Amino acid sequence: MLLELERLTPKVGLAVSGIDIRAPLADEDQKALYRAYLDSGVLLFRNQPLEPEQLINFSRIFGDLTIHPIESIRLRKHPEIIKLGSEGKPDAVDDGSGPAGSVIWHSDMSYTSSPNAAAVLHAMVVPPKGGQTGFIDTAAVYDALSPDLREEIEGLEVRHDFGDVIGKQLAAMDDDETCDVGTLTFDPVIHPLVSVHSETGRKSVNLSPLFAKDVIQETPSGKDLLERLTAFATQPEFFYFHDWKIGDTILWDNRRTLHSAPGYDKRHTRIMYRTTIGAPPS
Ligand code: OGA
Ligand code: MN
Repeated sequence: MLLELERLTPKVGLAVSGIDIRAPLADEDQKALYRAYLDSGVLLFRNQPLEPEQLINFSRIFGDLTIHPIESIRLRKHPEIIKLGSEGKPDAVDDGSGPAGSVIWHSDMSYTSSPNAAAVLHAMVVPPKGGQTGFIDTAAVYDALSPDLREEIEGLEVRHDFGDVIGKQLAAMDDDETCDVGTLTFDPVIHPLVSVHSETGRKSVNLSPLFAKDVIQETPSGKDLLERLTAFATQPEFFYFHDWKIGDTILWDNRRTLHSAPGYDKRHTRIMYRTTIGAPPS
């Protein structure tokens, strides 16, 4: 099969066509996809509705799946899949609490000592408007930093903490299709601010603004270093926001990307299924 690859933006991601990800893929296609994934960090496949088993099999091309630590979002029948989103509440009124499903920039599980390598997100039900997911390639962000700033952040360490806000949101996801709520506390962890990709060796600015709380060391240019780096990384030239259609699938390399969700109107339903790839294929 001849893969067709098209840039999503000059700095983030590729749209992949010319391939049917619902069926088992030949070795050479799997290798070509894997190369494209390592090259770009974000791959989009449009309009290929997947059954849970198909989503799981496709995800396995990119490594071993792990069971997500948060039980309340795990599918009972397919624990490799988590369910994100909410059912629309037609009578919901604007109570000032903001849109449903909104989450600021983060990389997944950076609040643990072993964040996952990658994830695959698949659109099951989408709202008529809103509900996008944004992506930033933090390797491109690193490359765009000034040499002085690169030097300043080398060797610094950042404390990441799950906090209690997200836990409450995710606990609310507990429904018949997902598991019962488990404990939603995690001890804080420390990660390097400059990460080196375990397969490509490329450096990234390892931000995860949702969970990254502070820099451990004194920093020459002041306390607000994380805020300044975040402001730099979240400029429009670095992001891509995907407008989901049912059956769209996005794979991201969690070691070199951030993602976020601006949310959607509570009256509408949005359901996403997601797998978690713990580590690259062994
Ligand atoms: C995720 C995530 C955001 C979204 O799957 O880890 O943050 O848009 N998703 O559903
Ligand atoms: Mn996430």
